[in-house]
Amino acid sequence: MPAIETVQLEKSYTVGFWRKRRVAGLKPLNLSVESGEVFGYLGPNGAGKTTTLKLLMGLIFPTGGSARILGMEIADPRMKSLIGFLPEQPYFYDYLTASELLEYYAQLSGVSGRERTPRVRQALALVGMTESARTQLRKLSKGMLQRVGIAQAILHDPKVVFLDEPMSGLDPLGRREVRDLIQTLKDEGKTVFFSTHILSDAEALCDRVAILHKGELHGVGAVEDLTARTESKVEILFHGLEAITLLSALGAECHATGETVRAVIAESRQDAALDTLRQQGARLISLTPVRATLEDYFIERLGEKVEAGR
Ligand SMILES: Nc1ncnc2c1ncn2[C@@H]1O[C@H](COP(=O)(O)OP(=O)(O)OP(=O)(O)O)[C@@H](O)[C@H]1O
Ligand SMILES: [Mg+2]
Repeated sequence: MPAIETVQLEKSYTVGFWRKRRVAGLKPLNLSVESGEVFGYLGPNGAGKTTTLKLLMGLIFPTGGSARILGMEIADPRMKSLIGFLPEQPYFYDYLTASELLEYYAQLSGVSGRERTPRVRQALALVGMTESARTQLRKLSKGMLQRVGIAQAILHDPKVVFLDEPMSGLDPLGRREVRDLIQTLKDEGKTVFFSTHILSDAEALCDRVAILHKGELHGVGAVEDLTARTESKVEILFHGLEAITLLSALGAECHATGETVRAVIAESRQDAALDTLRQQGARLISLTPVRATLEDYFIERLGEKVEAGR
């Protein structure tokens, strides 16, 4: 049984006041996430990531299709205690401390009185916030607040955790911390479904990713499988500024630093590029294959569409 499953799940919004029209937030989506997976839900702004998460959380209602979490319909109240959710821009009461806030949420999610304090302590320890547990939230950094948000999502020991843009607004160190935390959740056997537009974070972490654009699914799979479909490139370092024009004509992206030129070109053009360098009397320094990244895949699949605003 998949942890999360959507069947033709769809949401359109009505916009406008005088002249109402429908806009698609999410086009019919069929997606299946296995238990224990870390699943990245990727897409540029307005792709429909938050819409999907809100639908799964039962915060908005689908205009079509259905979804099941842990085999239960999304409207099923039994399922709520088995899932955790970090919204995109969580709002916390500034003057509460992290442990006061979590006590409150523990109460809301039905953790019994006796269990509450140990659970709060455990969640704070897991996100590395034990020392700041008694600091008012308004005094915490953005990264620390995000950790409190994640502690809130895992407080009741859910089986599936949903995080909407958990890395957004964080510096590289903060992002790394959130990544490590997601890894910890995976190690504990939880299923993690998170949205992001920071592709490198997903690359480092996810078993599989889905790519969404304008409400539509454009690809699902393991990062290696998706990137394997993208054309491989090589990076050539050489001395010899004269060769730049001809290499650029072959489709290379060239950047010169002093005498040294760095050219990135499709692997299929590698031989032609080396011939050109020889003819021009350039001196080769190195040639290195460049692994295709999710970003390459993204740009290849979606780049033109994003630029054309379609
Ligand atoms: N309440 C709403 N009313 C009307 N349109 C909406 C509403 N919420 C979202 N939309 C539209 O639905 C589309 C998807 O929005 P959504 O917020 O799900 O995207 P997202 O992928 O989360 O984007 P971001 O990266 O900016 O958070 C957008 O075109 C958005 O304008
Ligand atoms: Mg969003």
